[in-house]
Amino acid sequence: MSHQLLKGKKGIIFGALDEKSIAWITALKCSEEGAELILTNAPVAMRMGEINKLADRVKAPVIPCDVSNGDDIENLIDKAMEHFGGRFDFILHSIGMSLNVRKGKHYTQLDYGFNEKTFSISSMSLHRVLATCMKKDALNEWGSVIALTYIAAQRVFPDYNEMADAKSLLESVARSFGYHYGVKKHVRVNTISQSPTRTTAGSGVKGFDGFINYAEKMSPLGNASAEDCANYVVTMFSDMTKMVTMQNLFHDGGFSFTGVTEAVIEQMEK
Ligand SMILES: NC(=O)c1ccc[n+]([C@@H]2O[C@H](COP(=O)([O-])OP(=O)(O)OC[C@H]3O[C@@H](n4cnc5c(N)ncnc54)[C@H](O)[C@@H]3O)[C@@H](O)[C@H]2O)c1
Repeated sequence: MSHQLLKGKKGIIFGALDEKSIAWITALKCSEEGAELILTNAPVAMRMGEINKLADRVKAPVIPCDVSNGDDIENLIDKAMEHFGGRFDFILHSIGMSLNVRKGKHYTQLDYGFNEKTFSISSMSLHRVLATCMKKDALNEWGSVIALTYIAAQRVFPDYNEMADAKSLLESVARSFGYHYGVKKHVRVNTISQSPTRTTAGSGVKGFDGFINYAEKMSPLGNASAEDCANYVVTMFSDMTKMVTMQNLFHDGGFSFTGVTEAVIEQMEK
């Protein structure tokens, strides 16, 4: 059911790869809630052509952008302002890529060249996008920017590898830039720390099945789905949450504050 929470708002959604992507589902929800959208992803990810199906459904243009490339980001923001006829209101950063995980490198034996690229794509890209928007004065007053993260930024999940460090950096950028953008333009910047979710990026984590089942048993409400996450993002883009900024918001069915559950104890006693 739509509440038209985003009626009159315009925004950019990064990271819709296929219909399982959190960004994909969020784009559908934002559109249902009345928002006008632009979709973007890395040119290489677009070659699959899936994103055009989403673009048709939400009636949005697709503008390619590799977030590790400053020129691509400049081009995206310029084109977005042209398309929207001026400033816009929200951005979803739903991007993650670990080159060391991809190449099967253990955390204790990282390739630092890959590591720089991982941080550039997964973390500093948020800084680049925000800095470009600030320079071009692209976001409206009280605009809202969300980046997706994972609790491995605070606690050790050994197989999350260098992405744990990437997410810590991402959360820190959200806080630090959130301060400056808040003071300058009342733009708010937050991260949402989502439950493990079956997507292309999620399933790239070693032992994902064990991981997601464990989280399910450790969360009083169970794991939050991609759809639940999309709904939460919609509220964060709406004016109903306008005083929330610089936060890391756990969206994980209570996992982050649970020490142990009966379900896990039962399992251990078997
Ligand atoms: N799936 C999970 O378990 C989970 C849990 C918590 C947080 N997250 C985070 O949610 C976000 C979205 O991931 P997802 O699970 O929907 O998976 P996904 O694989 O569908 O999305 C990841 C996206 O990042 C994009 N990307 C990679 N390199 C890029 C680049 N250079 N430029 C632009 N885009 C690039 C990919 O093309 C893809 O669309 C990520 O930040 C991820 O870390 C996922």
